[in-house]
Amino acid sequence: MAKLTIRDVNLKDKKVLVRVDYNVPLDKSQGITDDTRIKESLPTIKYLLQNGCRVILCSHLGRPKGKVVKEFSLSPVSKRLSELLSVKVGFASDCIGDGVARLASELKSGEILLLENLRFHPEEEKNDATFAKQLASLAEFFVQDAFGTVHRAHASTAGVNKFLPSAAGFLLEKEIKYLSDAIENPKRPFVAILGGAKVSDKIGVIENLINKVDCIIVGGAMAYTFLKAMGMNVGNSRVDEDKIDLAKELLKKSTKIRFLLPIDHIIADKIDNPEKVEESSGIEIKAGFMGVDIGSMTRCIYSCIALKAKTIVLNGPMGVFEIDKFAGGTKAVVTAIAESTAKGAVSIIGGGDSVSAVKKAGVADKMSHISTGGGASLEFLEGKELPGIAALKDK
Ligand code: 3PG
Repeated sequence: MAKLTIRDVNLKDKKVLVRVDYNVPLDKSQGITDDTRIKESLPTIKYLLQNGCRVILCSHLGRPKGKVVKEFSLSPVSKRLSELLSVKVGFASDCIGDGVARLASELKSGEILLLENLRFHPEEEKNDATFAKQLASLAEFFVQDAFGTVHRAHASTAGVNKFLPSAAGFLLEKEIKYLSDAIENPKRPFVAILGGAKVSDKIGVIENLINKVDCIIVGGAMAYTFLKAMGMNVGNSRVDEDKIDLAKELLKKSTKIRFLLPIDHIIADKIDNPEKVEESSGIEIKAGFMGVDIGSMTRCIYSCIALKAKTIVLNGPMGVFEIDKFAGGTKAVVTAIAESTAKGAVSIIGGGDSVSAVKKAGVADKMSHISTGGGASLEFLEGKELPGIAALKDK
């Protein structure tokens, strides 16, 4: 890890501002439906508490667009965090201002304060220097642990470091380690399994990984754009028409590695309430049908490759996995990744849909690393510089 981490600095008894990513899903009655991000923040918080720090946590939740929106309050998170830590977690009704400054100054060693949603202030997303300075004034040190948000150049990710000494927390360190080891120093064969709806979402990843991996496996609706670019009939399948030329270029660039597309498909007349669902007889999709999942031959080939791989990065599902009858391809592939991991492979699951897919298949706890960042892990795999990481000091 090239960046300073909290292990490299003396934080004994310091007042520390920690940027966490508590952008967790909530139901209609403000219940947290997945607390993974809160749990993943605990190692850093516990370490700081053990070092006698006064801990001030800040985060965003949702996209309230610079206004106070009650539904996006972090108050339910303070309760959950308190349950998980078995200690009282104070909650401030704002993230800057005199009241917050007073609460922060009254904190005693080993106490925690969670600030209200940073994005209730438009200055957060504008990376406003005055706002960043106000946040920084609450503490003596800044810890960045919000991997899910480091691709944003916001006040709490890229601005606050200008006013405070800073270091990475344990979650950020773990995310960087897994993702960068996979990209820079992979055990081989290194296989990237990419799915999802749009080619445009994965262009950057394909371009960056094409010279690093041994094999790229493509599933999901984006496969149909590639198949159409190769002149195949894809029926009514979802295709990024304006990305056909780009798909042709990517196919040309990929000739030095194994670049695999599905050779058969589960096809349906429509996605919602389909009347006809069947398996295609080959690579092409007949008129009146659309591809909704990879077929049985493809599952077999993709699973065999995953089983032989030593490093696997999964980003995106193989089909419309949210609908049970179209989830079989994704389930087969993630099950093979889990088996491969049990035999010693390193498996990294990108955020968002991929995480939901491994959870739905019941194999989430069998993967080496499940990223807490959707957009952030995608941009990392694209090889982009992430502002929240760039703003931290090198060792
Ligand atoms: C996420 O959930 O991907 C992060 O919390 C970032 O949220 P954002 O896309 O609203 O910036």
